[in-house]
Amino acid sequence: MNTLLEVKNLKVRYGNIEALHGISFDVKQGEIVTLIGANGAGKSTTLLSICRLPPPEAPRVIEGDILFKGKSILNMPPHKIVSELNMALVPEGRRIFGNLTVEENLKLATYARTDGGEPIERDFERVFQLFPRLAERRKQRSESLSGGEQQMLAVGRALMSKCSFIMLDEPSMGLAPLLMYDMFRTLKVLNQEGMTILLIEQNANLALRFAHRGYVLDTGEIVASGSSEQLLADPEVKKAYLGG
Ligand SMILES: Nc1ncnc2c1ncn2[C@@H]1O[C@H](COP(=O)(O)OP(=O)(O)OP(=O)(O)O)[C@@H](O)[C@H]1O
Ligand SMILES: [Mg+2]
Repeated sequence: MNTLLEVKNLKVRYGNIEALHGISFDVKQGEIVTLIGANGAGKSTTLLSICRLPPPEAPRVIEGDILFKGKSILNMPPHKIVSELNMALVPEGRRIFGNLTVEENLKLATYARTDGGEPIERDFERVFQLFPRLAERRKQRSESLSGGEQQMLAVGRALMSKCSFIMLDEPSMGLAPLLMYDMFRTLKVLNQEGMTILLIEQNANLALRFAHRGYVLDTGEIVASGSSEQLLADPEVKKAYLGG
């Protein structure tokens, strides 16, 4: 399998605080890889640093390297990471535009595309087929969607950008169990159709049942890694992350 993303000895500092102490991991084409860890472990920092989106505050210093298909993307302008590498981020807290409708939010995501002029109606249909609730609410202002529906919209928006690699920051957050399983089933369908997925989760049980492989992040360091089966059976991981 080809390696798509390779993070090498990544260190990230916010002022005096070092949030990541040199972590390394990789994601191969077609895989679902999860990065699990508790609050403050550095999960969001990892994703935002890969996309080099600005952190909410504080200047950030990045050391180490991030490679995409073997080439460093550390000096690539952030907007190109999405448009040229077909990578999409579903950030923590969703960040949808509340005063725009569902349809408008989805449409916005197509502006970054470089494939030029392909009819987007087909993409709308695809998103609405995966998330029928969004279809019924296509003209509704997004701020009035439920938390779960907003999460679907955030994933739908990533799909509209024509990504082949999607990174999700705690998509299960705030979702009732049924919606959560729905969301993960949908992500699984996308993976079976060829989408590579990097999933950040605090819900380790759920993440490891969904992913092929995982890494455990603990206060800025990777402390365990392996296949999901291995991690689910690991006594230390069980004790710290799986409720015994
Ligand atoms: N913009 C920032 N400025 C200063 N410190 C930050 C900033 N963003 C994150 N940090 C710090 O870096 C560490 C890692 O934070 P991060 O948001 O990556 O954790 P996380 O694993 O995503 O946690 P959670 O599960 O709560 O979302 C924390 O100690 C946090 O306080
Ligand atoms: Mg986070």
